[in-house]
Amino acid sequence: APAALQELLLSRITDVPDYPKPGVMFKDITPLLSDPAAFGALTDAFAELCERHRADKVVGLEARGFILAAPVAVRAGIGFVPVRKAGKLPGATLGQAYELEYGTAEIEIHADALAPGDRVLVIDDVLATGGTADASVQLIRRAGAEVAGLAVLLELGFLAGRQRLQPGLQGAPLEAL
Ligand code: PRP
Repeated sequence: APAALQELLLSRITDVPDYPKPGVMFKDITPLLSDPAAFGALTDAFAELCERHRADKVVGLEARGFILAAPVAVRAGIGFVPVRKAGKLPGATLGQAYELEYGTAEIEIHADALAPGDRVLVIDDVLATGGTADASVQLIRRAGAEVAGLAVLLELGFLAGRQRLQPGLQGAPLEAL
């Protein structure tokens, strides 16, 4: 993203030490969400990525990814599809398990939400270890669609999520604004 946009976005993300547990620095995006200029600029930047990568669907990852991705879908004039934590979607679903620091988690998508030929831009707030994003990419492919790209507001480079994601992305672009 352009330097001025990066500066604006970073100025609206707050560091919260020792949350949710000691030693973790939490990135709080709520100040960004409550600033219409910053939220609007972020939405425009994501919508531009939809255009650049010729996406015709936006997938948002629960929960903060929903907040960021939904206005992008409206702005870009394309559909929004949620990827949810397991057990929350009412219809027939496809699920994908992935490793957490301790144990595993599972995400789901409606089995009929995407069709062959759909090009999907996946949006989330933060790329940390990359586990959530990696599982989402696999899930979208299993649902029959193509991953046009993965876009996040913030990439925590020191956790090396980008490296972990590289094989699974199969050449799809990873954009961190
Ligand atoms: C956070 C964040 C990403 C994910 C990144 O979500 O919003 O989705 O973790 O971590 P990873 O790259 O190590 O997988 P969280 O699970 O806290 O869910 P929430 O948005 O519902 O609070």
